[in-house]
Amino acid sequence: MNVDLLLTGISQLVSAEGAAARRGRRMSELRVIEEAALALSAGRIAWVGIEREWTGSAVRTIDMGGVALLPGLIDPHTHAVWAGDRLADFEARAAGTAYERILLAGGGIRSTVRATAAATVEELVALARPRLEALTRSGATTIEVKSGYGFTMAAELASLEAIARLRAESRERGGARIVATLLIHLPPAGAAIESAQRVGYVDEVCHSLIPEVARRGLASAVDVFVEREAWQVAEAERMLSSAKLHGLDVKLHSDQFHRMGGIALAVRAGALSVDHLEAVGEGDGQREIDALAHSETIATLLPGVSLHLGLPAAPGRRLIDAGAAVAVGTDLNPGSSPLFSTAAALGLAVRLNGLSAQEAVVAGTVNAACALGSSDRGRLEPGCVADFLVLHGSDWRDLVYVMGANPVREVWIGGRRTDEGEQG
Ligand code: NIG
Ligand code: FE
Repeated sequence: MNVDLLLTGISQLVSAEGAAARRGRRMSELRVIEEAALALSAGRIAWVGIEREWTGSAVRTIDMGGVALLPGLIDPHTHAVWAGDRLADFEARAAGTAYERILLAGGGIRSTVRATAAATVEELVALARPRLEALTRSGATTIEVKSGYGFTMAAELASLEAIARLRAESRERGGARIVATLLIHLPPAGAAIESAQRVGYVDEVCHSLIPEVARRGLASAVDVFVEREAWQVAEAERMLSSAKLHGLDVKLHSDQFHRMGGIALAVRAGALSVDHLEAVGEGDGQREIDALAHSETIATLLPGVSLHLGLPAAPGRRLIDAGAAVAVGTDLNPGSSPLFSTAAALGLAVRLNGLSAQEAVVAGTVNAACALGSSDRGRLEPGCVADFLVLHGSDWRDLVYVMGANPVREVWIGGRRTDEGEQG
């Protein structure tokens, strides 16, 4: 075999095997190859194995110096496009005011909506760029970015336009691969359930926004926030049906504060993922955990929210023990999770959600890729895109162990080091 580039001197090369989401007990099956080498050609992985078993030739060889190498992380849930800040909320919450109360009083998400609506597409791009770069430095090579601070159709389209520009410039620079999602976050302020204003908003989303987003290729999925202060299950169901009709994947924010039936809807709708799940551990939530475990829908945990809002952590251990496929993301956003490190989200999943280090890596790689409907990434196997990260240390577990410093030394996307341009 003749390849462009051979990386040698890898103390541990770590990856899940196979493109399918790993569920239940199989989430802890992680292959670790000691004293490994990795061969790359045309931006893809050509060969993976024990270094001394390599028999091919390479145009160029780099000795990594005895450090661990893992698949690039997939961050399956961010709200990286926003304007303004939520520092006043942070202070209010530190003084004891609840997140939901701030939202009800017209602050919280609604204040971010006001600031985002006042920003131009160029400003949104400039604000989001360093956030995505921070996630990338932490090891993320694919990042999902949601709209959702738009509120009017025009503002929602402007956020999606910003995401499209970020995606294009990132592709040009060899940065993270961006996946766009249309998030229908909140109903119009003060609009009562079943009011004409609220029904009219859902109509507009279904008959105008979703078709337009699908036609222009501005998002690959639609997400709806199901919650007391947000959407009811019946409203979300209408919007998800419209999304599917227009060929888009669907997902939900569900069970963040209250169990409202969002998990059952996600399973019924064949959602790629149902995200948050902090409240599913309460009451007779086991039924929903079991339903999720017997479905194809991925359970995406966002432990940054538990840390930042002081919410109960989603029952990751129970979900995996029931047989679910779990993914983990940062939920990067100004209000509930100002977490700018995808690696740190995995470390929090170990500490707060009860995942093992192996499960956390699977949750942040192959399972997170499945939560985005991608099968060519999140693992180091021939044919996959050559997206991976290199640690400072020789033991892969540093990725989830280190706090407050970046355990990641290098990030490679499409066979190129992100901080050094072309590498062959
Ligand atoms: O994922 N849950 C709702 N939406 C976001 C929070 C957005 C915000 O607070 O700005 C979330 O937590
Ligand atoms: Fe979110």
